Amino acid sequence: MSCIPYCFLLALICFGIGGADGITVAEQLKDVIMAESENSFISNFKGYDNSIRPVVNEKDVLTVNISLNSMSVLVLDPAEETVSFSSEFILQWQDEFISWNKSEYNITWLKLKESFLWTPDTTVSTSINTNYLIDSSERYVSVKHDGTVRQSIYAVFVNLCDMNVDTFPYDSQTCMIKMGPWSYTKEEVTCVNGPDIAANQSLSYEGEFQGNSEWDFEGILTSVGQTEDPDVNFTFSEVHFALTVKRRPQFYVWVLLIPTYIITVVCIFGLFTSTANHGLREERVNLGITTLLSSAVILQIVANSMPKTSQLPLLGNFILAEIFVVAIGVLFSVLVLTLHQRAHTREWRPPAWMLWILRMTGSSKFLSRNITKIRHKSSTAERINYTGEGAYLFKNLDESLQSVREYIQEEDRDYFRELTYIKFFDRLDFLLLVIFQVGNALVTLFLVNKHYQKVPLNQ
Ligand SMILES: *[C@@H]1O[C@H](CO)[C@@H](O)[C@H](O)[C@H]1NC(C)=O
Ligand SMILES: *[C@@H]1O[C@H](CO)[C@@H](O)[C@H](O)[C@H]1NC(C)=O
Ligand SMILES: *[C@@H]1O[C@H](CO)[C@@H](O)[C@H](O)[C@H]1NC(C)=O
Ligand SMILES: *[C@@H]1O[C@H](CO)[C@@H](O)[C@H](O)[C@H]1NC(C)=O
Ligand SMILES: *[C@@H]1O[C@H](CO)[C@@H](O)[C@H](O)[C@H]1NC(C)=O
Repeated sequence: MSCIPYCFLLALICFGIGGADGITVAEQLKDVIMAESENSFISNFKGYDNSIRPVVNEKDVLTVNISLNSMSVLVLDPAEETVSFSSEFILQWQDEFISWNKSEYNITWLKLKESFLWTPDTTVSTSINTNYLIDSSERYVSVKHDGTVRQSIYAVFVNLCDMNVDTFPYDSQTCMIKMGPWSYTKEEVTCVNGPDIAANQSLSYEGEFQGNSEWDFEGILTSVGQTEDPDVNFTFSEVHFALTVKRRPQFYVWVLLIPTYIITVVCIFGLFTSTANHGLREERVNLGITTLLSSAVILQIVANSMPKTSQLPLLGNFILAEIFVVAIGVLFSVLVLTLHQRAHTREWRPPAWMLWILRMTGSSKFLSRNITKIRHKSSTAERINYTGEGAYLFKNLDESLQSVREYIQEEDRDYFRELTYIKFFDRLDFLLLVIFQVGNALVTLFLVNKHYQKVPLNQ
């Protein structure tokens, strides 16, 4: 009975040794492949060279299927005209030198180091910088029993992207991403494309496609294209991915567009608010200049985030239009200031059409040029001829009274004239205020509305 533990121990040792000796199927299969075995189940693998295109017949074309598995837009830089994105490309092709009997090894997919096998030298030819997260010497490829090789390339790409910002901030951009073998011609390696990716696929199980906080992912259209090298008549096949993203305009609307509009509205109120004291008008010019400066700063912000194209984007046009509105407002304010001053010092009289527009034709007598004439007439009015004793005294007294009366009359007229002028300039200010506010509203509606309608803001 005491032999039972020994037997158990013996069995354990035997089992352990047996386990160490036996290798897994995958190891065995890999050994068979890598050791260039004569094993008949691995067809054509003897003398595998990873720098030779894996086709049995030299004239055969090798087809590489390039598709996108995921993509996240990281940064879209309109000033630099580049788009950064991280994405996983799946490349799939048939290696005619590899195949094994599935039912013998009971294994469908095998992982092999990328450097053991031939892989197409694909590059994203439109990118200016690529950052692979796994070095190519560390990467594995999946090999199927029938010779299908599946390679996954995950990297952060910085891609060139032609941008059209005419309708900024309501714009959408399309960036072309081109991927294909760098040195094999169309006759050696041809590319085929995977399926298109729709916008609503952004978070489906098939992979992740997403924009960032500023850009919404709108979809990717794939197609096959080719480039030529005319010197040697080489044609290269490549797959084109047209990535479309749409800007979310809310940020620019709240941070730039609405503040600019409000600043202009307030500035126009400030420029044309009626004030009796014409000295205050100089303050208005300062107000206008300050507004112009702040608008110029906002325009600078827009300009900095744009490519330096010949055309100004929509938001830039809007800010520029607001700058013009404020500038013209300041000019009108200065004009009114000048006229008011001249009315006091150089007897400037408003022309009849101005009075008609301002509905002040009834007041023209207070402003008329012949006030002085009236005064002269009254001064030469009929006088009583004093005779007799003390006539000289009476005459003197009468003349003094006359001049006092004239003075009072003149003061009265001056007073009325001043009141009329204040009324006149009040009305002129009010008229200009209405004109400029309406004009500002029209400019805003015209520039913003037509694009606003195209892009719903409720996303
Ligand atoms: C694959 O292996 C199975 C079982 O070992 C065998 O029956 C079959 O004939 C083999 N197939 C080929 C194509 O060699
Ligand atoms: C193949 O593997 C499956 C699952 O691991 C197993 O159920 C099956 O029995 C295996 N067949 C052979 C022939 O080894
Ligand atoms: C390329 O691969 C994708 C995904 O594996 C597949 O949907 C597509 O049909 C393939 N294209 C061709 C032409 O085989
Ligand atoms: C995306 O939209 C299309 C039609 O617009 C529809 O057929 C498809 O099922 C949708 N896919 C997802 C993942 O919602
Ligand atoms: C390229 O091909 C064209 C027409 O196929 C031919 O006329 C031309 O000579 C070729 N050039 C070279 C360099 O082979």
